[in-house]
Amino acid sequence: MKSFVLTAVFAAIAGLSGCDRSSQSFSLPQGNVDQGEQVFVKYQCLRCHTMAGYEAEAEKLSGVMETPVVLGGQVSRIRTYPELVTSVINPSHRLAEGYDGADFQVDGQSVMPNFNDVMTVTELVNLVYFLEEHYEIEPYPRTEYVSPR
Ligand code: HEC
Repeated sequence: MKSFVLTAVFAAIAGLSGCDRSSQSFSLPQGNVDQGEQVFVKYQCLRCHTMAGYEAEAEKLSGVMETPVVLGGQVSRIRTYPELVTSVINPSHRLAEGYDGADFQVDGQSVMPNFNDVMTVTELVNLVYFLEEHYEIEPYPRTEYVSPR
């Protein structure tokens, strides 16, 4: 059973590497948010990122980025599991919008390290569950109609 799940994850990840492949069949096994947090701390994501509630944790690490890339918070479109997996296993896939300073990319490659040879699939799944939890949809700005007098 377990190896079946892992095979499914690998198949899903392999599917992502073809750039325009649909990710509709992408399905992660159930992850654990608390364990994902441990992964987030273990791999020192806060060296380059900030996340609400992790300011103290970030301060302990010597930041390498002048302007850390914000993770989580209010966004206009929620990050899906496939997008988050892609961001972690293939950081240069899509360079974050609004972050094109030399700080972030060298020769068109993200400075974000590749964890693929050290992070287990279980860690990745838990990490993605953890990250996803920290995004929330921006309240939709209501159009104010001024009633004619
Ligand atoms: C050495 C710096 C560095 C480290 C360490 C790092 N990242 Fe990143 N990360 C970046 C940069 C820079 C970007 C912006 C994308 C780009 O332009 O490369 C990014 C982008 C991302 C994004 C996409 C954000 C968006 O809004 O599109 C996610 C998710 C992410 N990182 C997660 C992580 C996680 C999880 C870890 C730890 C396992 C981590 N990063 C470690 C530098 C880093």
